[in-house]
Amino acid sequence: MAGSLVHEIKNPLSTIGINAQLLLEDWKDPQSPKEERAVRRLRVMVAEIQRLERIMQTFLRFTERHELSLASSSLNSLLEDLVEFVSPDAEKRGVRIRLGLAPGLASFEFDSDLLRQVVLNLVQNALQAMDAAGGELILKTSERDRDGQPWAVCEVIDTGPGISPRALDKVFDLYYSTKKDGSGLGLAISKRIVEEHGGRIELRSEEGKGSQFVVWLPMRPRGKSR
Ligand SMILES: Nc1ncnc2c1ncn2[C@@H]1O[C@H](COP(=O)(O)OP(=O)(O)OP(=O)(O)O)[C@@H](O)[C@H]1O
Ligand SMILES: [Mg+2]
Repeated sequence: MAGSLVHEIKNPLSTIGINAQLLLEDWKDPQSPKEERAVRRLRVMVAEIQRLERIMQTFLRFTERHELSLASSSLNSLLEDLVEFVSPDAEKRGVRIRLGLAPGLASFEFDSDLLRQVVLNLVQNALQAMDAAGGELILKTSERDRDGQPWAVCEVIDTGPGISPRALDKVFDLYYSTKKDGSGLGLAISKRIVEEHGGRIELRSEEGKGSQFVVWLPMRPRGKSR
């Protein structure tokens, strides 16, 4: 229901956005203070339209069931790539990254784009939690047995401020955020994606010490459904 409403809004909004953008281009060099004012207002409109478009895109990503495009992939490689990607940001914040990959962790079927998004959300949260105070971000993989099944486990551990017992229940809720410009979608989407893979996310956290997010993914044999 909410998803279809967003779809209905998307097209007219994009028409408004394109036209506002075209107007801005027509008025590249304003000739009078009046025109300058108009251009400034147009810029505000364009920026706000873009913000709305981003909000709706993220919302749709949440409400729509993801069509998983499963392919045999390496979780270790995904983490290695991701570490390279976030290293500059970590360095800026004085955060040291430690990577503990299970040697020889077998490839298994997952949607690598979506899982990358999951781990990136967790890593960004960890970095934001440690803020400029620095700290340590640990990324680990392992293979474990649970209920007689093999699972790939990915842990994202930080030495940030942790999460209060009261907030522990809420962090996965849609729109729950304690950040000034947080959308509160990151963990809700991540949980959803992991569950769509037949997995689960666990969270342990201690105030003043840090947080540990543990992602469990079933290592399904090729072609076998859950
Ligand atoms: N590693 C962490 N340490 C401390 N608090 C955390 C951590 N990860 C998440 N949280 C808390 O959970 C809230 C929800 O996280 P979530 O990723 O869903 O949203 P967000 O980061 O606030 O916004 P968004 O991810 O959409 O930009 C955060 O605002 C923060 O309060
Ligand atoms: Mg987040």
